[in-house]
Amino acid sequence: MMHVWVSEGPGSERGGPRRRPRRGKIVSGASDKYILTKPLGRRPGVYHADCGGLDFAVKIHDLRYHFHRESFLRERTIRDILVREGHTHKNILIPHELVEQNSEGYIITPLVAGTLESLVVRGKKFFLPEDIAHLVTGICDALQYLYDKNILHRDVKPANVFLEINGTCSGHIGVAPSNYMAKISDFGIAFHWSLSHLEVPDTLLGTEYYLAPEQWQFSHSDHRADLYSLGVTLFRLFTGRVPFTGDVAAVAEAHLRRDIPDLARYNKKIPPLVSALVFKAMAKEPEERYQSATELKEAFLYAVQKS
Ligand SMILES: Nc1ncnc2c1ncn2[C@@H]1O[C@H](COP(=O)(O)OP(=O)(O)OP(=O)(O)O)[C@@H](O)[C@H]1O
Ligand SMILES: [Mg+2]
Repeated sequence: MMHVWVSEGPGSERGGPRRRPRRGKIVSGASDKYILTKPLGRRPGVYHADCGGLDFAVKIHDLRYHFHRESFLRERTIRDILVREGHTHKNILIPHELVEQNSEGYIITPLVAGTLESLVVRGKKFFLPEDIAHLVTGICDALQYLYDKNILHRDVKPANVFLEINGTCSGHIGVAPSNYMAKISDFGIAFHWSLSHLEVPDTLLGTEYYLAPEQWQFSHSDHRADLYSLGVTLFRLFTGRVPFTGDVAAVAEAHLRRDIPDLARYNKKIPPLVSALVFKAMAKEPEERYQSATELKEAFLYAVQKS
């Protein structure tokens, strides 16, 4: 039987904490106390927290649910690996601390301004390549850093690229993209060999609009599936939409067999070189895509420079 665990939209089987008031709740970390002040964003279970005047985001996992328990473990494992190896990457936002209290898990992360998704939704809908070249560069550098440590993100999409303004934490999106720095976050379905016991055959993890053909086929997938998702992310950033929509079956069919729509159909200002880059990033066969995040980054910078 095929299981699809999509992380948002219709068909989501994640379960987890429903909206219930949490204002004033205290989460006791190893040495700090975080006071939940208000819900953050649209998704239930994410809160703004105050800790001695510093702002944090707290994602609540209901550990009675299998999916939440598992994703809490993945977040913890990836954080431990990165911290152990002296995490320094400026384009990766890893949790400050993970806390288990009663039957709940709390992932505490420094507050950032928002996500690339919120910039697309609330901003000007789509961007020109040169305006977000620094963000694309940051995303590629972060992914390459993860691949070099044998970590696959597996949920690359605009909602998981967080944006920080010069190290400050405004909690609000609203200025030009040039002011932001991209930070990859959300390791809730990430993979590392030490987590291989969690892999379940014929189970699909991810967000349907961003999944690569080999993932839909339950074939072997590696970092090139992430790079396909990055291709979909670029498509969305340059056109304001994802290439394929519809129900899960239609989206799967399209990723497996349909041609990618021409980006110029939705954004006439997209240079052909950049369109071609997105096509290559989203090639059906992994061998025909960019083979590393660095290769994609260099091709992108070349396309921007030549356009
Ligand atoms: N550190 C943070 N600073 C600001 N906002 C945050 C932060 N962490 C999470 N959020 C908000 O909460 C949302 C969900 O966070 P996250 O991506 O970690 O959870 P998720 O369960 O994977 O949700 P999704 O399926 O939307 O990706 C983000 O899209 C963002 O709006
Ligand atoms: Mg997310």
